[in-house]
Amino acid sequence: MEGPERIEYEDRSQAPIGVFDSGVGGLTVVREIIRQLPGERITYFGDTARVPYGSKSRETIIRYSRQIVRFLMTRGVKAIVVACNTASAYALEELRPEMEVPVIGVVGPGAKTAAEVTKNGKIGVIGTEGTIDSGIYTRFLSNLRPDIQVLGKACPLFVPLAEEGWLDGEVATVVARKYLEELCHSDIDTLILGCTHYPLLRSTIAKVMGESVTLVNPAYETAISLRRLLQEQGLENKSAWMTEYNSCEFFVSDAAERFQQFAARILHLTTEDTRQIPIEEYQT
Ligand code: DGL
Repeated sequence: MEGPERIEYEDRSQAPIGVFDSGVGGLTVVREIIRQLPGERITYFGDTARVPYGSKSRETIIRYSRQIVRFLMTRGVKAIVVACNTASAYALEELRPEMEVPVIGVVGPGAKTAAEVTKNGKIGVIGTEGTIDSGIYTRFLSNLRPDIQVLGKACPLFVPLAEEGWLDGEVATVVARKYLEELCHSDIDTLILGCTHYPLLRSTIAKVMGESVTLVNPAYETAISLRRLLQEQGLENKSAWMTEYNSCEFFVSDAAERFQQFAARILHLTTEDTRQIPIEEYQT
């Protein structure tokens, strides 16, 4: 496709940060970016037509991610945050050389925090099948600390539970108990919430795992890494007036209204102008 016109910012520091996920989960990362970098604009894309990513092949995730990056570039973004663990695991390194702007994922920052937090060197990771099967967290953690032991568990039903808003209560607890049983009986002291949907179920997961296990949400460290990256590249938005929650724009590939309802619950801001776009058309 020829593609729509690309927005260009004369002063690149004024440009938004592109953030994407398979659906609504990446909003937990947006929430953290807003908290830590309130002066930045954000352009978010949630691939609501093609969620879940967690059970799809590497090739498919790379193709989807490439289309999304192409779309975000038309919005003039100055940096991209891959706010999806599955896409970070499968597509980030593949796409990085093709990127015209700096890009970060959530896996590196999540692994870094966990390696700092653990006392006994035994870390659990929960995520999608794709993220767990890729072994990406184990690789990052081993690079940081070769003595670390990692126990991974895919928890695919957490994604529809989060999307349905069933964050606590009986059903969420039963599902969490079933998935986390093995981790509960291991001696991990740290658990990485390796899927952007999972922080929404944090209280249920915490209850099941007990107080002896520290939960790590990679979003927190991702926002710190993003700030560092923007500083290093001279891309920080220093405009004093850009401090309100009016600086985000949202795009989805389907069901904009449903997305808006969800976003309102997570971000406590109005996302009424969420636009649906034909993401498949952003072919390379
Ligand atoms: N939010 C995505 C992640 O962090 C997973 C959800 C999905 O399966 O699409 O991996």
